[in-house]
Amino acid sequence: MNEPWYRNSVIYELNIRAFMDEDGNGRGDFRGLIARLDYLESLGIDCIWLLPMYPSPGRDDGYDVADYYSINPEYGTLEDFREFVDKAHARGIRVIGELVMNHTSEAHPWFQEAKKGPESPFHDWYVWSDTPERYRDARIIFVDTEKSNWTWCESCGKYYWHRFFSHQPDLNFDNPAVRDEMKNIVRFWLDLGLDGFRVDAVPYLFEREGTNCENLEETHAFIRELRAFIDAGYHGRILLAEANQWPEDLVPYFSSGDEFHMAYNFPVMPRMFMAIRQEHHGPIVDIMQRLPQIPESCQWATFLRNHDELTLEMCTDAERDYMYSVYARDPQMKCNVGIRRRLAPLVENDRRKIELLHAMLFALPGTPVLYYGDEIGMGDNIWLGDRNGVRTPMQWNDGRNAGFSRCAPSRLYAPVIMDPLYNFTAVNVEAQDADPNSLLNFMRRLVRVRKQYPAFGAGTLRFFFAENKRIMALLRERDGERLLCVFNLANSCQYAMLDLQELAGCVPHELMDGTVFPPIGDLPYLLTFGPHGFYLFRLE
Ligand code: NOJ
Repeated sequence: MNEPWYRNSVIYELNIRAFMDEDGNGRGDFRGLIARLDYLESLGIDCIWLLPMYPSPGRDDGYDVADYYSINPEYGTLEDFREFVDKAHARGIRVIGELVMNHTSEAHPWFQEAKKGPESPFHDWYVWSDTPERYRDARIIFVDTEKSNWTWCESCGKYYWHRFFSHQPDLNFDNPAVRDEMKNIVRFWLDLGLDGFRVDAVPYLFEREGTNCENLEETHAFIRELRAFIDAGYHGRILLAEANQWPEDLVPYFSSGDEFHMAYNFPVMPRMFMAIRQEHHGPIVDIMQRLPQIPESCQWATFLRNHDELTLEMCTDAERDYMYSVYARDPQMKCNVGIRRRLAPLVENDRRKIELLHAMLFALPGTPVLYYGDEIGMGDNIWLGDRNGVRTPMQWNDGRNAGFSRCAPSRLYAPVIMDPLYNFTAVNVEAQDADPNSLLNFMRRLVRVRKQYPAFGAGTLRFFFAENKRIMALLRERDGERLLCVFNLANSCQYAMLDLQELAGCVPHELMDGTVFPPIGDLPYLLTFGPHGFYLFRLE
């Protein structure tokens, strides 16, 4: 009962702009989102993660913040936001927002002031240099658009530092005023009822010469300070780290339970795609075994896809080449160091693969984060530029603009998906609602199963190995609850003889369909699978 809520939850990521447009201007808004809470409740999710909702020029989809203290007028007002949070809470759904600390938009009044020169009180809020030679060891992240992390500022005759787009100057965290302001921002939104933050671009807050300017001790110290600030004034609010790093650099963000509550499991994500393609459990098992134990109060956030490209930064060169060769055959699918595709097109709309990937996501340690639209198998549009192809309007029905907006189609912020395979007339919520065998209804069942058994959220993990490497078997265990999950990674039917002797006497109950299997005995336990089949068992 004392389990922190985020350990046994399912999170749903959505962009307000893309979800539901109520005022008919072609962009989603809070009122539309409120109208769709029924849908989210029916899916069974526990928490909504909102992509940036702040006023912004929109050159990085809101990650270029121009004001941290209000709502983008296209999305509504602070009142609408408050009403949305209240209504979500009334249904037992929590809401987390974005905390974009590393940088602002160049349009932010702080930067507009700062660039007037050193006499400006805000000058020192950003990172300046007379030469672009400083911090040479810091990599460039948006390799498709940026050549350097420094950009010349004409008006003050200096270069400013930015880890992302050149229109996103980095804030100077060495300045105590910046650190204090971040706490003010956090306080503002927590007082309005937000349940926490997904913290953007965590590793890059500080810069130090001679380092790669990532994961510095100063960054950890500040996060601990921020966490202490939150813990002192609020209960049950969380910080979720976006730190795209290898396990060794990622795990320290949990520290001893006094930094982040949660962090995305970036390393495991691409490896789930590798595993089903190679039909081998190695990629997942190896990386999970490389992840050290995390503090009891902490939790991984696991995901298959999100609003960005499927990042391949945490891959070796060979792994990256492999991923490109099998998942990005058209060069247009590549974006920065990754692949700009949604889940369904990545797996060629193979329903069995989509279900298998979700079943693995839900069975591995961590709290699953679903990306809006993937629960109905939405398609993408790789021709929209940057990462916009995975951010198209939610497909609600087969009517005008997929039921997303009543505006003239030419006014939509982005076209709805119309390609034959993923056309909104076929792929939409209304149609899948009515079909008991739809992906949507499968997802609803899976969410329900997951939430019924706390060991999925917080249990220990152990792998069992069959001779057949195409099979992945794992046991999650907590407070006497034992869940045995077995997956066929191959696109062909398979069998496995699992040595489960230590579980002898247990009776496996399959959780999706309720079938009771023969008891486990002393002999190897035989399981057979259809292509990409899987079993989630509770052991009695
Ligand atoms: C990570 C976000 O997920 C991405 O969308 C954004 O472009 C960068 N941070 C920069 O804020």
